[in-house]
Amino acid sequence: MNFIRFRSDSLCVENISALRLAKKYKTPFYCYSLAQLKNNFLRFNNIFKNIKPIICFSVKSNSNLTLLRELRKIGSGADVVSIGELLKAIKVGINSKKIVFSGVGKTEEEISKAVKKKILLINVESESEAILINKVSKKLSKKTSIGIRLNPNISGNTHKKISTGSKNEKFGLLYGDCINLCKKIQKMKNLKLEGLSVHIGSQITNIKPFKNMLSTLDKLIKRIKIDFKFIDLGGGMGISYSNKEKKLNLKKYSKLVEKFMKNKNAKIIFEPGRVIVGNAGLLISKILYIKKSADKKFIILDAGMNDLMRPALYNAKHQIMPLKKTSKRLAGNIEFVGPICESSDKFYNQKGFVKVKEGDYVGLTHVGAYGMSLSSNYNIRPTAAEVMVTGSNHKLIRKRQSLENLLKN
Ligand code: LLP
Repeated sequence: MNFIRFRSDSLCVENISALRLAKKYKTPFYCYSLAQLKNNFLRFNNIFKNIKPIICFSVKSNSNLTLLRELRKIGSGADVVSIGELLKAIKVGINSKKIVFSGVGKTEEEISKAVKKKILLINVESESEAILINKVSKKLSKKTSIGIRLNPNISGNTHKKISTGSKNEKFGLLYGDCINLCKKIQKMKNLKLEGLSVHIGSQITNIKPFKNMLSTLDKLIKRIKIDFKFIDLGGGMGISYSNKEKKLNLKKYSKLVEKFMKNKNAKIIFEPGRVIVGNAGLLISKILYIKKSADKKFIILDAGMNDLMRPALYNAKHQIMPLKKTSKRLAGNIEFVGPICESSDKFYNQKGFVKVKEGDYVGLTHVGAYGMSLSSNYNIRPTAAEVMVTGSNHKLIRKRQSLENLLKN
């Protein structure tokens, strides 16, 4: 079900035309469909209902408080990777027993906060980290639940910059090292080894890497004979960014996980980000100028790579939609670019575009995940506003950053 779609000629977010929103809020701004967000979460939950997983939404994909609060209301936990994300998850009322903390470089301050908050699992990625968590826990007279992250040496067959499961990546511990560390952790008095975790990458659309990941986990569990209370399978489920693209078959994945769970008592944890929020976001931007050049026309938007980094970082193909469809087409080659002083500040160019003029608006689709959360102040540009739509209502859920703030230092 798509809640951001054309209704006759108008691009709509639920029941509101994007053009109406564009006239109300200063561009560029992000706009989310609450129905889409909830629908994605509940669908995910439903597909995996037989294994009743703990779903820890990956806060790095979108950390807007209103959005997190809505997810908490429908049962989500949180996967966090920094003290900031941890505090946001707690702030929106997510129960600490539904929070997992991943990342290769947790600081002592971050560990100490997580220990005090008694979160579900701190997923350990190195021996030194385990030693530090043990030391911090001892100082605080706590016994901390931890997970250990396996690097299964499996390629996710995804963009190389978002692949995490191969042996040359910094993430997790290789098979042998993982087994050795499990044994050492069992002797650390202030740690409880409760979880085994893995995350092989993001935007994975093929089921095969997940299948291999599960069989490696299975092998490891049989070998070390630890009755893990939790098995955290991470996130990574890929979505389709256009009609032509393939997405991960979640139903097939759920069948594989069900099979994997036979004869195991553990509880499954998932850390999905993109699949929950990716298609729930639209970035609305204004056409500032149209400039003719040697053999193309540049359509210069007021949204740039500081607002949406994914095209510049990963050549991501976010479709650009006119807010009003017409049958007239723009002649010649066109290229959508942003205002930033970098040649990589350009967006994916689908062939042909409806006739637009300066002052018109466009929407970049599927920007709910790693859109706003990856944005920056490059070129001293304030970060965009965020708007939530539900049915026929809309509200501002984050103000556009003020320029004043940016002029302080
Ligand atoms: N768990 C861990 C340990 C992760 O590192 C990540 C993502 C997730 C869960 C959530 O993955 P998801 O379900 O969203 O694929 N900026 C990139 C994506 C980086 C993902 C980093 N880790 C992008 O825009 O494509």
